[in-house]
Formats: sequence, C-alpha cells, structure tokens
Amino acid sequence: MIILETRSLKYTYPDGTVAIQDLNIEIMKGKKIAFVGQNGSGKSTLFMLLNGTLKPGQGEVLFHGVPFKYDSKSLRDIRKSVGIVFQNSDDQIFAPTVYQDVAFGPANLGYSKERVDACVQQALEYVGLSHLKDKPPHHLSGGQKKRVAIAGIMAMEPEVIILDEPLSNLDPVGADEIVDLLNEFNHFGNTIIISTHDVDLAYRWSDYVFLLSNSKIIGQGTPTEVFKDPELLKKAGLRQPTTLEIYREIERRGLAYGRNSPKTIPELVNTLKPLDLMWVDVPPRVKEGDSLNIGVMYGEYATQSPYEAVNATVLHIHPNGRAIVELKRKGIKAGGILIYDTNNYSLPEIKQILKDGEIAFVGAMGKKSKILAEQDGVGLDVSSGVVDKSILMALCGKRCLILTAGGMVDHAFKRIKEYVEKSGIEFTVGVVNREEGCMWLKETGDNSETLKI
Ligand SMILES: Nc1ncnc2c1ncn2[C@@H]1O[C@H](COP(=O)(O)OP(=O)(O)OP(=O)(O)O)[C@@H](O)[C@H]1O
Ligand SMILES: [Mg+2]
Repeated sequence: MIILETRSLKYTYPDGTVAIQDLNIEIMKGKKIAFVGQNGSGKSTLFMLLNGTLKPGQGEVLFHGVPFKYDSKSLRDIRKSVGIVFQNSDDQIFAPTVYQDVAFGPANLGYSKERVDACVQQALEYVGLSHLKDKPPHHLSGGQKKRVAIAGIMAMEPEVIILDEPLSNLDPVGADEIVDLLNEFNHFGNTIIISTHDVDLAYRWSDYVFLLSNSKIIGQGTPTEVFKDPELLKKAGLRQPTTLEIYREIERRGLAYGRNSPKTIPELVNTLKPLDLMWVDVPPRVKEGDSLNIGVMYGEYATQSPYEAVNATVLHIHPNGRAIVELKRKGIKAGGILIYDTNNYSLPEIKQILKDGEIAFVGAMGKKSKILAEQDGVGLDVSSGVVDKSILMALCGKRCLILTAGGMVDHAFKRIKEYVEKSGIEFTVGVVNREEGCMWLKETGDNSETLKI
C-alpha cells in the first residue's frame, strides 16, 4: 500500500535555486526507505516537502492518496502523521528542558497531561535519555540533541517518521543504537524514511533506495539493484558499499562462490566458498592431494588436543611451507543461537538457559530487553549489530542467546534462518519462551534437521 506519494513535484527557493524538479515517487507503507545523494542533491528540501514544512511550487504530495492541503488545520494533521527529525537538531530543539521539548509535540496535539507524560517518558526511555530530562537541551552534546529530537517526534507516534541524516554526529555505538531504534519503530509497523550519504548504511538497512542527484531521482529499487550499478553510483557522486566492493575483489580474484550481493559480514564471509579452505602449517613431507587430520575447535585451528580432529585434503603447498587445505567439516560441533522473547521475561529461566545451554555470548536487541538485562545484571556481550555478531559466534561453534521482544523475535529468527538456508552452514536456532516455542534443538549431524522451530 502506498502511504506517501509525490506527483510532478517541483520546488524552487526564493533566490531561484531549483532544489527539486519533476519528482514522482511512491513510498510503500511499513518499509524502510533511504534517500541517498551527495551534498546539495535536494534530500532535505524533499523531506521538508514530504511533511508540509515547505509548500511545492508545482505538483503535489499525497498521504494515503489524499493531496496535502496547506491550511493550518490540515498541516497539523499531516505533521501528526508524518514526523520529521531535521538534519540540524538546533532547528528542532528550543524548549528550556529536555522534558518540555519532547512534550511540545504531544501537548500541541491536545493530548491530556497524563497522556503527554506517558508519551514523553516512553520516548525518553527509548532513546536512553530519561536521566537528562531536566537538562537544558542547548547544554547537551550533538549526539544527545539528536536523540532529543528523535524522542520529540516519537512522542507524537506518527505513522511515518522521516529522519534527515539521523546518524550524523553520533559515535559508532550510538549510531548502531539509533539504527536498532529505527528497526524497532519499523517492527511496530511505522514507515521509516532516512536520508544519508552513508552508502553502507543504505545498502544494509533499507528495503528500498532512491538515488537523488541534482534535484532529480536518477535511480531507485532494492539496495541490491541500486548499488550493483557502478555507473549509476558514479553519476550520483557516490561509491559502492564496502561489503560489495570487497566481494567484487574476491570475485575478481576467482575466490567467490556463486553470484552474490553480500550485505553483512556473515554474508560476505560466506561468499568465500568452499567455506572450509584455509592456510595451515604442514610438516615438510606432506604433498598436494594428501589427507591430513587438522585440529579444530570453535573455529580456531590447531594441531594438538584437546581440539577435535577433522580430516582435510591438501590442495596447494606454498614454497614457504604453508598449505591450503580443504576441511571435511563433518562432525564439528556447531554453535547455535537461541532467541528469548522478553515479553514473558523470567530471570530464573534466563539464568538456567545460560547455564544449561552453555551460553558463551549474550546480546540484547531493543530498548526494553537492554533495560531488563541491565536491571537484572545479565551481562551483555553485545548490544548493537546483535544478529550478525551472534551468527559469527555461532559459526565459531559458540552458543548465543539473544534477548529481544515482540516482532523483533520473528525478525531475528527469520534473518538467522535465511542465513542458515543460504549458506548451507549448519547450526541450531531456536526461540524459547513463546507458546509455540521450543528449547535447544538437536545437534547438527550428517542428515539431521538442524533448523526447527
Ligand atoms: N534556504 C535556501 N535558499 C536557497 N537555496 C537553498 C536553501 N536551502 C537549500 N538550498 C539549495 O537547494 C539545493 C538542495 O539543498 P538541500 O539542502 O535540499 O540538499 P541536501 O541533499 O539535503 O544536501 P546535504 O547532503 O548537504 O544535506 C542546494 O543547491 C542548496 O544550495
Ligand atoms: Mg540535507
């Protein structure tokens, strides 16, 4: 279903700069959309048109098929449904305290005092700023101001959230947290639209990408479609995403397996098939074609016990004495990922899972799960990029626990399942603490079903 749409949209600034020309786009409900383009391509101008902050010179913007009107009542309705977080937080933040700033939107919508309070508390908790609620926003750091601006929009509970360069000014962990937050909104059914110059982010995060150049859309499609075209990217003044660039190099050297467009590090690692090729030191008399036993445990390779021995064939011996061997992985103890739905949280149960499941790595996704883990002293090894990092750990034979809730449980399960299916690498994955849930599944083996829920 189309939620936002523009028809022959044009915008010219009073000084005559044409910032948007003949723009026709359709944005689908519930999707994660990225507008990517270099400085001055028109992203901010377009975003201000998409929530009525600017009025087009020609053409129209439609929400749920109804053209925007620009009287103050209609604009108020639009801004309730389509919230925008501006590129520069100082354009958005003005109240004397963080609390008042976040409360401004909901109060303006005529919510009761209690409802405003509930919305603000929740929004501040989501962005991790509850402790700063009485501080003047102009005394905050750039990244904190960004979070205040995001909380201010969240508090109005809009259907569409537009964020202009949401990650600028944020440190890497802070940026990952905001991405998680955006994913969380999206799981609740919100449409999320961002602008960015960060091709890596747009490539791995979005469902659909628009490339803007010189006030026009010059390309659109799924990230895989858009970013595989170097000519198009050049025209837009952008570069290829890093994972894709590394993949192309691997492919150019004849080392890639199949035709791929890896988006994440686990997917990239997976393109190096056969997966079990590796360099090892071998004794001097070994010849190409020989069969050897190599010690393997948890993805690290060694030659003595207590590592499990795995049979390997020597493919190539380098003059320096090292050899490329192909491992016959059969019998290696695979790792696994267990997803725990914190909507039915029980600390004793988690403790038991950690112990009985021999969990080596714990991650939490979503604010609620992170707060629960923190409150109860469940040590988290990772709180951003959790699914990818858990997959990498499982590939090394470790067992991981992901604490998350609601729609994100299915999201995480689906992503891991897709990885298992695509890669052909066997490890267990399960969801606990749900009605249809299950506990650890059987170990991987020759013909055993490794993926079950
Ligand atoms: N208030 C203004 N008056 C006149 N021209 C403007 C104004 N704001 C932006 N422009 C011009 O409109 C064009 C599009 O600017 P816009 O800010 O939308 O680009 P952008 O893609 O958001 O860039 P950036 O990546 O730097 O944020 C640019 O040529 C810019 O110089
Ligand atoms: Mg901009």
